[in-house]
Amino acid sequence: MILKSLKLNFFRNYNRGVFEFNDNLNIILGNNGTGKTTLLEAIHCLSLTKSFRTHKNSDVIKYNCNYFQIFGIFTNSKKEEINVNFNYSNNDGKALFINRIKIEKIIDIIGKIPVIILSPSNQRITEGGPLLRRSFIDRILSQIDPGYLSTLIEFKKSIIQRNALLTQYKDEEKYNYDPYIETIDDILIEHAFQIQKMRESFINDFNPLFKEVYRLLNHINHTVYIKNYRDIEIENFRKRYKQKLKSRIERDINYGRTTTGPHLDRISFIFNDRDIRYFGSQGEHKIYLMALKLAEGRFIEEKTGEKVIFLLDDLFALLDRTHCTNIIKLIGPANQTFITATDMAVLERSDFNIDRYDHKILKLPDRAV
Ligand SMILES: Nc1ncnc2c1ncn2[C@@H]1O[C@H](COP(=O)(O)OP(=O)(O)OP(=O)(O)O)[C@@H](O)[C@H]1O
Ligand SMILES: [Mg+2]
Repeated sequence: MILKSLKLNFFRNYNRGVFEFNDNLNIILGNNGTGKTTLLEAIHCLSLTKSFRTHKNSDVIKYNCNYFQIFGIFTNSKKEEINVNFNYSNNDGKALFINRIKIEKIIDIIGKIPVIILSPSNQRITEGGPLLRRSFIDRILSQIDPGYLSTLIEFKKSIIQRNALLTQYKDEEKYNYDPYIETIDDILIEHAFQIQKMRESFINDFNPLFKEVYRLLNHINHTVYIKNYRDIEIENFRKRYKQKLKSRIERDINYGRTTTGPHLDRISFIFNDRDIRYFGSQGEHKIYLMALKLAEGRFIEEKTGEKVIFLLDDLFALLDRTHCTNIIKLIGPANQTFITATDMAVLERSDFNIDRYDHKILKLPDRAV
């Protein structure tokens, strides 16, 4: 996928912004606060209908305005042009158009424009709690299989429904596993099983790819892989899960929430036989995350046949010169890449010879455009 041009209206610091891009490498330069990350954020919004910095689309509307608009013109690997227009207004919410046709179900865009974002805030994936690691896997699976995303949405709905019932029972001081809970559980278990199966097969497919990318990036043979400490074993999943749900009913009613299931899977990133979360150095965390992201790109490409767009926010501030150069070499000329930096000097200090790449430099003005 290649983003040819982008137009923004009332998006963060942009009143209006019009950009044309190179098919290979785009270097976005600008002082602090000039709108570099915002540009990447807008591209991310076209792909996933949300920002990577905030959960609320209203946050990215320009201050004191009521809506934003993003227009992108892409070409896919079959050289077909795809026009994507994503709007959000405080009054009417999201609206998405592909080739000027309104998309009724927003999830239908997921996976169509594959992008990989690497920004300093992503580091929480390896450093933070398990929720972010589950989301890392869920997001990849959603991009390659719309069925996974809809199952996940249904599963989350069942959990919300079950938790509401548990809270009600607590108020009524009812502590029995009754047919109302069982009806919800039978649906919940089915969705949970599908999720567990798909996560399992994802981890099996992804790990060898991840290991290989890590080796190419770091030139050291560390043992790296994703491990899922499943809440419920996959063998006889349905039976085991039901038993667990039943046996914990009193506790669940007391807590007002479902305390077992794939929504609580503890996914760990292993580095030299240990959880990187607790043992990795700062640099090791960064390299690990970068390898995960590069492997994510390769994985999506293998599964969808479409090239991903890489958005690398402040790459040169994140990693040392050798690793930055390795990353750009590993991405190669086949993928369109956007890199932000404060000035060319940052790039010149690295081993990275920009003239070897077909590229465009976009210098953002100091005042908002
Ligand atoms: N909703 C908004 N409306 C208007 N301006 C905003 C909004 N949200 C953030 N800003 C401002 O937009 C500007 C651009 O932010 P952005 O994060 O894109 O800068 P940047 O070029 O990436 O800077 P840095 O080099 O510091 O990372 C900042 O001054 C920020 O405070
Ligand atoms: Mg920034």
